[in-house]
Amino acid sequence: MLATGSVPMIGNFVRESLDLHLFFARIMREHAIFMQAGFLPKDVTYLQQAAQFKCQYDEILKEAIRLSDCTTSGEVLQSEELLTDKTLRAEQKTQELTGIPIDMALTAEELRLNPDSGTLPAEIEPYVCALNQKAMLLITSFAEFKAIVLDQVTHCCLITNLFPLQIEHVYKEALYYLKVLKRLQNNQFVDSRVDLLEQEVFWDEIMGEHARFVRHLLDPSERALCRKAKELTKGFERLEQKMKGEGLPASSFGRLMHENIAATLSIAEFKAMGTELILACQLKSLLSPLLIDHTLREANYYMRILQTWKPGYLGRR
Ligand SMILES: [Fe+2]
Ligand SMILES: [Fe+2]
Repeated sequence: MLATGSVPMIGNFVRESLDLHLFFARIMREHAIFMQAGFLPKDVTYLQQAAQFKCQYDEILKEAIRLSDCTTSGEVLQSEELLTDKTLRAEQKTQELTGIPIDMALTAEELRLNPDSGTLPAEIEPYVCALNQKAMLLITSFAEFKAIVLDQVTHCCLITNLFPLQIEHVYKEALYYLKVLKRLQNNQFVDSRVDLLEQEVFWDEIMGEHARFVRHLLDPSERALCRKAKELTKGFERLEQKMKGEGLPASSFGRLMHENIAATLSIAEFKAMGTELILACQLKSLLSPLLIDHTLREANYYMRILQTWKPGYLGRR
């Protein structure tokens, strides 16, 4: 049992590290599940490696949950970036459909997490530091695995049911997790506006790609939803181009922030509706319920970043 005490100096490091793992370790374990579900039975080594990564991320997530009770930010718990009201049902259905075991006890445990109580266990920092180190090693090896799979697929030496764009996409998300974690571990603070701009460029691209591959995974007969996905794709491509525009003045920054918020809300609604339709067996597609819920949580994560912005306040920190 850890003793409790007020440790304000390490509060941000501990809280931000644990919030990051609660979100991203779950995201990574799901990437492993999607990859495992995507390989053919003959590709035994790839299947085993994906299964192993899933178990290793279970361990990271388990440790993050153990350390997070009464340390997690209330806003993170409320943002539905960690879990939505559909995640557990999506896990149950995906396990049933794929036969891949998913540790749902972790999800149930995470649903019971209490928000930050204003005090932190005095000895928590070294545990968090060790967890960060362990996670950095695992992210690096998982990113390498994704890069190898992408290389094999693009050289026509391997076939999976994931588009090359999806494999590249999950690779980029691993690198992002690693980058943020390294910054935290090294106590690096960058200019807040650059930080926010960089995140918006990254997440606009990610949201645009979600819309692109969801559109291609919908049955062609689902015309209305295919049209909506195409419209969302174009919206995020436009935003990404604008965010990359050189010398963005502060006035444009505020306007673009509102456009990003509106676009992200719109794609989150689309994904939430899609998840419910799939769970109710009312949508024809190649999407698993967990895949679309996963993309919804990523939209919620981005939404929380965007909502930290207020006119005159240009960053998260
Ligand atoms: Fe993802
Ligand atoms: Fe994603």
